[in-house]
Amino acid sequence: MRNPVLKVKDLRTSFLTDDGEIPAVNGISFEVNPGEVLGIVGESGCGKSVTSLSIMGLVPTPPGKIQGEILYNNENLIRASEKRMRQIRGNDIAMIFQEPMTSLNPVFTIGNQLIEAIRIHKKWPKNKAKMRAIEILKQVGLPRAEELMNEYPHQLSGGMRQRVMIAMAMVCEPKLLIADEPTTALDVTIQAQILDLMKRLNKETDTAIMMITHDLGVVAQMCERIVVMYAGEVVEEADVKTIFKHPKHPYTVGLIQSVPDMRLKKDRLYSIPGNVPKPGSTKTGCQFAPRCPHRNERCLAETPPLDTLETGQKVRCWLYQEGKGVEAIGRAVGKG
Ligand SMILES: Nc1ncnc2c1ncn2[C@@H]1O[C@H](COP(=O)(O)OP(=O)(O)OP(=O)(O)O)[C@@H](O)[C@H]1O
Ligand SMILES: [Mg+2]
Repeated sequence: MRNPVLKVKDLRTSFLTDDGEIPAVNGISFEVNPGEVLGIVGESGCGKSVTSLSIMGLVPTPPGKIQGEILYNNENLIRASEKRMRQIRGNDIAMIFQEPMTSLNPVFTIGNQLIEAIRIHKKWPKNKAKMRAIEILKQVGLPRAEELMNEYPHQLSGGMRQRVMIAMAMVCEPKLLIADEPTTALDVTIQAQILDLMKRLNKETDTAIMMITHDLGVVAQMCERIVVMYAGEVVEEADVKTIFKHPKHPYTVGLIQSVPDMRLKKDRLYSIPGNVPKPGSTKTGCQFAPRCPHRNERCLAETPPLDTLETGQKVRCWLYQEGKGVEAIGRAVGKG
């Protein structure tokens, strides 16, 4: 077993607002192993982006406040200087965002930006950097790479821009690539191509990928292991097969049920009743309890810990602690 690329331990990121301190990420822990694709899933507002921005050192402090440990090669990135973080970003950990226009500079050509990215990290002469830039554009499946070097981001389609972003991220051979909803803004065919590309690069380069998404289809296609987040906390963690076959947390069960099953023609998609609470608004008990069909008094009064079951699966739910969850929830999972 190789050591994890990244260890996140009890990460807490909050924001100081007029309404007081709002905890966006509330004590999450997980590890990313070398070469794996780890999925982070959960509804809008559960803290996925804040987690990735915290890892990248891109949360402005203040108003943000970050506690806990983000260990990269035993170095706690939370305490790293901005200068050190600039070295880490790109060289060791790279990130691609949902909307590539936000991270491509509209006034520079694709070539300029790629060459610049390469030269910052590799200190190569310009010509060598240029050759590598063309090579990586070809690697990410872009046609007419040489011409593209002289074009501006607005001249490219959304799918092409996202390929350029992936090229920028991969060019310095990072150990970890954080992809925050990288295909949400793209149409379905292009989305599939981009995911294929990422999976191929992951296999070829051994770069670990942290795939942030609310799309379980993406998870099924890409990921080996899944962390399920709810309201700033990890509620379940398991390998992908287990999550789809034996989801344990009632929230995960709901998520899986809300995926359309082609074999069963249902009129309506199941969706979990209610909404994600505002971070910090549920003070006592399980964060999911107000929406949970299985809740009891204890769930409303005490916060369950994230427990490791015999199977290795982790779940934050009192039902399993009391040993009756499998039965109660098993019935709820049965589709149809
Ligand atoms: N700069 C900020 N100031 C105050 N609150 C913030 C800030 N950034 C994020 N938040 C809050 O933190 C919580 C988590 O947000 P985050 O963007 O991580 O959600 P997400 O899981 O990425 O959602 P989505 O799927 O919509 O992208 C939200 O309630 C959000 O309002
Ligand atoms: Mg987000």
